[in-house]
Amino acid sequence: MTGRRACIDCSFFLFCNTILCFTLVFFVVWSIFLPEEPKFSITNASITQFDFAKTNKTLHYNLELNITIRNQNNKVDIYYNDIQVIANYGKKRFAMRTLDSTPFHQGHKNTTILNHVVLEGQQLVQFGDTELSQLKAETDTGFYSIDVLLALRVKVGYDIFKTRYYQQSGSKINCKLKVPSNFNEKFSGRFKTTKCGNVYIMSDPVV
Ligand SMILES: *[C@@H]1O[C@H](CO)[C@@H](O)[C@H](O)[C@H]1NC(C)=O
Ligand SMILES: *[C@@H]1O[C@H](CO)[C@@H](O)[C@H](O)[C@H]1NC(C)=O
Ligand SMILES: *[C@@H]1O[C@H](CO)[C@@H](O)[C@H](O)[C@H]1NC(C)=O
Ligand SMILES: *[C@@H]1O[C@H](CO)[C@@H](O)[C@H](O)[C@H]1NC(C)=O
Repeated sequence: MTGRRACIDCSFFLFCNTILCFTLVFFVVWSIFLPEEPKFSITNASITQFDFAKTNKTLHYNLELNITIRNQNNKVDIYYNDIQVIANYGKKRFAMRTLDSTPFHQGHKNTTILNHVVLEGQQLVQFGDTELSQLKAETDTGFYSIDVLLALRVKVGYDIFKTRYYQQSGSKINCKLKVPSNFNEKFSGRFKTTKCGNVYIMSDPVV
């Protein structure tokens, strides 16, 4: 009885060891092949309209962005299935669109330039006191603090092998911009290239 018991224990132990072993190998292989995150930056941005009418709580906006995406991996290609661009002022979203240029493929060590990404239209926004006083102050300085968020779905390719989709969970890729108000001749501010942060598509994916 005790001998049989011991054997069940021991085969259970072996079973656990095998699982542990496989998990370990999986993680080692994974970390070798784990691709580096692509690098996102906004190389230019301009606003030609940014008017909020208090009476109807409507923001009329026209924002143009030039976006650069760099795949710095030596061996892996990236397939961008869709890219969603969201624009926030303060904590309030006022624009969102999916890029027409997707889907596209990006080779290893390659850079993709997405120019003339235009967000324009009108949007009902519930600006609170914070946003309103910020808007007033920034209208006087000639720069608007706009957060551009990127949400995307990608596949990763190693030669003939292609993964399933990767997608960032939780908070999105964030580009904190100071966009010059080009519509106002009083100001001649220039946009400074801005790197986007919070990129965790492949290192923390929801597949
Ligand atoms: C950025 O865009 C504005 C408006 O289109 C343009 O006047 C300016 O020359 C651009 N700056 C750069 C560095 O390309
Ligand atoms: C984006 O880049 C193009 C040229 O590549 C330039 O003509 C345009 O003014 C840029 N727009 C903005 C807003 O940066
Ligand atoms: C909101 O009001 C502004 C100014 O009163 C007006 O120019 C704009 O067309 C209105 N927008 C909408 C969607 O009604
Ligand atoms: C980057 O991709 C483009 C278009 O697919 C291609 O023409 C170019 O040769 C690639 N550049 C490098 C360095 O791989």
